[in-house]
Amino acid sequence: MAAAIPAAAIDTVTRAPVAIVGAGPAGLMLAHLLGRAGVEAVALDTRTRHEIETTQRAGILEADAARDLVETGVGDRILREGHEHTGVELRFDGRAHRIDFQGLVGASTWLYPQTDVFVDLADARERDGGIVHFGVRDTEVLDVDTATPRVRWTAPDGARHEVRARYVVGADGSRSMCRDLVPQQRRVRYGHEYPFAWFGIMAEAPMSAPELVYAHSEHGFALISRRTDTVQRMYFQCDPQDSVDAWSDERIWQTLQARVAGEDGFRLQEGPVLEKSVLRFRSFVQEPMRWGSLLLAGDAAHTVPPTGARGLNLALHDVKVLAPVLLRALGAEGAAALDDYQPRALQRVWRAQHFSSWMTALLHLPPGASAFDLRRQLGELDCVVGTRAGRSHLAEQYTGWPTRA
Ligand code: PHB
Repeated sequence: MAAAIPAAAIDTVTRAPVAIVGAGPAGLMLAHLLGRAGVEAVALDTRTRHEIETTQRAGILEADAARDLVETGVGDRILREGHEHTGVELRFDGRAHRIDFQGLVGASTWLYPQTDVFVDLADARERDGGIVHFGVRDTEVLDVDTATPRVRWTAPDGARHEVRARYVVGADGSRSMCRDLVPQQRRVRYGHEYPFAWFGIMAEAPMSAPELVYAHSEHGFALISRRTDTVQRMYFQCDPQDSVDAWSDERIWQTLQARVAGEDGFRLQEGPVLEKSVLRFRSFVQEPMRWGSLLLAGDAAHTVPPTGARGLNLALHDVKVLAPVLLRALGAEGAAALDDYQPRALQRVWRAQHFSSWMTALLHLPPGASAFDLRRQLGELDCVVGTRAGRSHLAEQYTGWPTRA
């Protein structure tokens, strides 16, 4: 962390019960939930609103998360523009196998991009008069080991601000600076790096399948998702060192078609590639999620590979647990209430870590995999789709778990 800038250089000092570093979905949902209870938090982010809105992220929400957004008054656009998915398709050995979420566990997911969740939350904050500072720089978080933590930043107009808070929440994403405030000797970082990445595209093309298709093939993994009737989102397994420039539209479509090909003649609908990027992924958890007056939420505390679509759901679950805990901590109970946060958040975090890495290992062949590895993986996939227990396991994990009371 940079050395503190002298107080004299601060133009504006304000007070807030909670300062939230990071105004992505986790930070904004927390501010929204606190605001509904009459506690006005201040949220800030180094990115501009436009930058966050235009960075492609994943697109699947658990039904509970979708319902929370509607029921807490963020808006019902999700019901009008999102798509309820009652199942998902696994393709392997050239054949399609549907996992019927509704039939197996009575649950659904919603296809609704994270960027839209962010837009809805940012609009709701504006509507409700919430304080959100986008595009700030030189953020400093001070004194988190005391009961009077402070956050300082430089606004886009150059003015220096300080907010004096009772609690600070680090919701500043996978490159979090807040998590570094937990002293090195007091924190543990668990992680796993994968020897492959995803090549993600947006393509102007009609829909290829009504539900998501997770495809395993001897050539590697592919995922067919969508955004709108005319814009599709797809991914395929690639080398983490791959450069987007090495991939022409023609090569991208050839690769994707080969990975979904099968005896049923399934083919993707092709069209111009509008956007391409390489997504490196890893599994990561930092404990503890609380240090003094600082609490970590979302990707700042944990990241998962995107295979199980858990990341956004997990972040929203963290703040669903954290909001009532913070309200209690600001009331008569005081800081002791914060002890309830980590155990309740972390149980789901480790479940999601397990599910995301299991689904990643199930569907991706690592470089150098042997013929045995491939046959074993096909055996495992057959167990997943060919037994009720296997199908129910996938359905239950993918659609999420109930929030612990
Ligand atoms: C997406 O639509 O971007 C998406 C869907 C499911 C995943 C990952 C990404 O597992």
